[in-house]
Amino acid sequence: MPSSPITIAIDGPSGSGKSSVSRAVARRLGLAYLDTGAMYRALTWWCLDQGLDLADQAAVADAARSMDLSLSTDPDTATVQVAGTDVTDAIRRTSISSRVSEVATNLDVRAELRRRQRELVEALRSSHGGVVVEGRDITTVVAPDAEHRILLTASEEARLARRTTELHGSSTQEQLAATRDQVVRRDRDDATVSAFFEPADGVHGLDTSHLSLGESVSAVLDLVEHGAPHRIPTPDPDLQES
Ligand code: DC
Repeated sequence: MPSSPITIAIDGPSGSGKSSVSRAVARRLGLAYLDTGAMYRALTWWCLDQGLDLADQAAVADAARSMDLSLSTDPDTATVQVAGTDVTDAIRRTSISSRVSEVATNLDVRAELRRRQRELVEALRSSHGGVVVEGRDITTVVAPDAEHRILLTASEEARLARRTTELHGSSTQEQLAATRDQVVRRDRDDATVSAFFEPADGVHGLDTSHLSLGESVSAVLDLVEHGAPHRIPTPDPDLQES
């Protein structure tokens, strides 16, 4: 555990590698892990389970305030429970992914979930020495005072290919087309309420398009330890295999 508490804030669009990288960094540094996207997903699950109309902004915001949400912040077993039901797997299904932006663009919902996120970050700094917290607005709004703030980006092509392989195990043309809505359309909708394509002032941008998971993790650890990535491999066209 680091000697004084640290918050590592990591934002990025869908498929930028942020969840895998954040978990691995938390594990390596012995910190807690907070997935704020899981909170928006859990609320979406809860509203649909309760038969709420997601277009009813006031009802959805009320649900955000009353939701009994419990998150495990262990990077190895990040489970999510709503009102005692384990929804860890259910919130990753397409039925939730395709609707979550309707909830995440509700400004009263954002106010409530941001309040809960700030509370959780403070609690985890005291209990675990710090936290890696990932989302879309962490570096800018939830934890702008975090000791380390990083925005992971990747080309649309790389993000789409990663998410497709994650969901289907391969990435044929049909699978890519089916996943496009979950990556491109969802990011476009989410970007109406948070800026996560360009790093804000003081936020380190890291393009993971050509980095493996291990290389992305090393680059983030370097940023945390040295303030700059030292080990990012620079692609040298003369050394590329044909
Ligand atoms: O990272 P993810 O795909 O699990 O996020 C789910 C949704 O929640 C995504 O559509 C954007 C939204 N989100 C957000 O608006 N702000 C955050 N801090 C985290 C996620």
